Amino acid sequence: MSTSPSPAVRSPINLAGKLALIHEHWAPRVVAEMNDYQFKLVKFHGDFVWHTHEDTDETFIVIHGQLRIELRDGPVILNAGELFVVPKGVEHKPCADQEVQVMLIEPRGVLNTGDQGGERTATNDLWI
Ligand code: NI
Repeated sequence: MSTSPSPAVRSPINLAGKLALIHEHWAPRVVAEMNDYQFKLVKFHGDFVWHTHEDTDETFIVIHGQLRIELRDGPVILNAGELFVVPKGVEHKPCADQEVQVMLIEPRGVLNTGDQGGERTATNDLWI
């Protein structure tokens, strides 16, 4: 893990290989950037906290397992190969009854806990 991109910029990034390096839940790791956006891999298990990102949408792509994103008007269930964009300003809570592997796409600097902060806020810009 590092705080900067790999120098091997011309190599493909193997998502399964990167996911195998992640041993914590709720700890996103950056694998690539595109302009000001980051592609992050993360493993979820259990319930997160309700939160909102006032300034940005947030994309979830499920790679393995099933993710439930609770919204105030009902849940969105995502299976492997499915994608959902949480619009900015929409309160949400990711939940996973069993471990799920997810890619997040969001602008650099977005906090995982959004407006809520607190002990579940992950450190940003940690690359694998
Ligand atoms: Ni969020």
